[in-house]
Amino acid sequence: MTLDDARYIRQEVMAHNKWFEECIPMIASENLMSPLAKEMLISDFADRYAEGLPGKRYYQGNIFVDRVEEKATEMAKKLFKSDFADLRPISGTVANMAVLFAFAEPGDTITTCALAQGAHISTCEFGAFGQRAVRSVNYPFSVEDMNLDVDGTIKLLKKEKPKIAQFGLSVFLFPPPVKELKPTFDEIGCLVWEDCAHVLGLIAGGQFQKPFDDGIQIVSASTHKTFPGPNHGIILASNITEEQEKKIQKAVFPGVTSSHHLHAMAALAISLAEMDVFAKDYASQACKNARALGQSLHELGVPVLCPDLGFTRSHAIAVDVSQFGGGKECAQLLEDANIICNKNMLPSDTSAVRPSGLRFGAQEMTRIGMKEDDMKDVASFIARVVRKEDPKKVKEDVKAFKKNFTGIKYCFNEGEPAYGYHKLVE
Ligand SMILES: Cc1ncc(COP(=O)(O)O)c(C=O)c1O
Repeated sequence: MTLDDARYIRQEVMAHNKWFEECIPMIASENLMSPLAKEMLISDFADRYAEGLPGKRYYQGNIFVDRVEEKATEMAKKLFKSDFADLRPISGTVANMAVLFAFAEPGDTITTCALAQGAHISTCEFGAFGQRAVRSVNYPFSVEDMNLDVDGTIKLLKKEKPKIAQFGLSVFLFPPPVKELKPTFDEIGCLVWEDCAHVLGLIAGGQFQKPFDDGIQIVSASTHKTFPGPNHGIILASNITEEQEKKIQKAVFPGVTSSHHLHAMAALAISLAEMDVFAKDYASQACKNARALGQSLHELGVPVLCPDLGFTRSHAIAVDVSQFGGGKECAQLLEDANIICNKNMLPSDTSAVRPSGLRFGAQEMTRIGMKEDDMKDVASFIARVVRKEDPKKVKEDVKAFKKNFTGIKYCFNEGEPAYGYHKLVE
């Protein structure tokens, strides 16, 4: 291999950056980090190791790493109003694995949602749940409400007496009815865990749900979906014992991580500080934008799930495009028009490869300053594409529209070019 191979890689990355400047980003699990947070990713932290907890590291050289981690842990506890935080899981899936290692033995029963109901693969038999060999039992689900059937869930919990009741979805439109289920959790004495990967940024801003007030004890999450931080993970907990907190720490290290990507941890710390200031406005605007997008698509005759419930209470909406050729075809056509989203299973689907739905998230559009009115334009681009207007034609309109949204919002460097700091030196 030669320098040309390296050049090729850089050029492809630069081409990607340029392309995304001209796209409408609608993947519900992505976001833009702030310039300050992103800077941490190229700090010397990126080249170092830290194993264990601050003050008890296996390696030397962690004086400043320890200070950052201690401060970040306190910031996370304050922002999420939790008793405990562990910032070392390197992704949401790794956070889920740590919770499983800490609290479940092979053969234990965990109640959870099914993939077609919007669950993430890590809670499926072929994901982390299967790897831990737990017995997972799915909740009854109300397709109309895109949420758990409360009476059925109470019956299921009483029958199965799970060791852990687990919640959280990747198509997370409405908060789970945890408050209503709390008396049943208390009766059977199970641990209550929610995967808040998708809604962590909303929770930071006081939207969607207050998990620990509702009765959740453990929250696992990614820190790069609605929470606009680095690709990383986090575990938060309240109302558990010190012994249980130690179990989480041991499961994270040495259970499922060695070093914990210190540059990402520092970037997460910056994002926590920023969200303490900006999350309220950002999260409420992201939810308003998602509802406005749902309303506009609905008015344009593109079926959005849960119209009677206002489409969503989160950043995301689910759209049924079966009459337009299905999720796979529509997602590809939208990409051809520079609208980036993903195909998604809807509750009646059996195939994850050819599902009938699309999932759209409003959080990244919010981050670059779009408001409810802009959702009308976005919905009209989507409707034109799914109705088979030439995507190349729509793409030109998308590129022109995107030129109005160049600055990043809801962070300390508000107004700086949203994509500018992604540029590499030519
Ligand atoms: C609910 C949920 N949990 C966990 C994950 C995995 O997160 P990560 O990609 O950080 O491992 C996802 C990813 O989209 C998700 O939707």
